[in-house]
Amino acid sequence: MKKNFFLSVLPGDGIGPEVMREAYKILNILKKKCFLNLIINEYDIGGIAIDKHGIALPEKTLTGCKNSDAILLGSVGGPKWQFLPDVQQPERGALLPLRKYFNLFANIRPSILYKELSDLSPLRDDRLDSGIDILCVRELISGIYFGKSGCTFDHHNQKYAFDTELYYESEIERITHIAFKIALKRKKYVISIDKSNVLKSSKLWRKTVDKVSKKYPNVKVSHLYIDNAVMQIINNPSQFDVILCSNLFGDILSDACAMITGSIGMLASASLNEKGFGLYEPAGGSAPDIQGKNIANPIAQILSVALLLRYSMKLYDLSDAIYESVKNTLKKGYRTYDIRNNNQDYLTTQQMGDIISQNLIKEI
Ligand code: IPM
Ligand code: MN
Repeated sequence: MKKNFFLSVLPGDGIGPEVMREAYKILNILKKKCFLNLIINEYDIGGIAIDKHGIALPEKTLTGCKNSDAILLGSVGGPKWQFLPDVQQPERGALLPLRKYFNLFANIRPSILYKELSDLSPLRDDRLDSGIDILCVRELISGIYFGKSGCTFDHHNQKYAFDTELYYESEIERITHIAFKIALKRKKYVISIDKSNVLKSSKLWRKTVDKVSKKYPNVKVSHLYIDNAVMQIINNPSQFDVILCSNLFGDILSDACAMITGSIGMLASASLNEKGFGLYEPAGGSAPDIQGKNIANPIAQILSVALLLRYSMKLYDLSDAIYESVKNTLKKGYRTYDIRNNNQDYLTTQQMGDIISQNLIKEI
């Protein structure tokens, strides 16, 4: 790759900087051994940006991101900032505005369990015989996360709070197209999630998904209510290929998918806009309870680099090589704290990053 690729790296809070250090090892291999012209600039975001600059999403960070080709994010948030006014908090003041600013409506979260790694799953072996390979497509910049909300008093002076789920048909259409296009390259099966037996927004969701699905006659479509979907994912995960969800349902279901394939510490995500600009981040959050202990699993952050290579740089072989090196590392029995078996030794964050890096060098 001759052209320079500008990458903004935002380590953020909690375990973010720790796992990002391991992602840097992978980025350095890509630069040195694969000769990628990656130009990396690092910026503050979230709680650390509040502490240093008084605001969760500083102008300098936003400008840096605007001038780059993609963003690699760690995580934001933590107990230190939870008593700030809502709009100033790391999540509401930085992560959600960043997603919205770049119009990153399509959030893609793959969860894969390889058969030989079934001990990573809390599910019984017989439920894993056919393997798990689920891709969650989550609408990311609308729905209840961005609808009208408030906390106030009624005329009897009773305190109440509300959030509103609002979806435009066009918003459902564009995320549905993404899910079906991805399904065409997979097992050609989309399961759309809603609560259309109760919610109006879900009724429109289902109707719109059905309408768009007609444009993809080779892709099978079915619908599940969210409560049933959670049950089905635990009971028979191999029936799922692509899952299409609203913002809130996707948030919930993608955590469930991550858990049955190992750990939230392994769930990477890509958030894309219509031009293919992407933000790549682990989906597990800042995990303040394990911050600074050198036990966080760096795999989600490392796989976020793999997604960056796939979706922003179109370097599919290199992306696959990262996945392979993670898989081989796990196959050899290396584990971090979150995926250890009882009494089994586990690696530190840094050791896991080192072993995956060594495997990657062999792979490329
Ligand atoms: C995620 C996270 C975020 C979300 C939080 C940190 C706001 O849980 O990416 O899944 O709810 O979208
Ligand atoms: Mn989440």
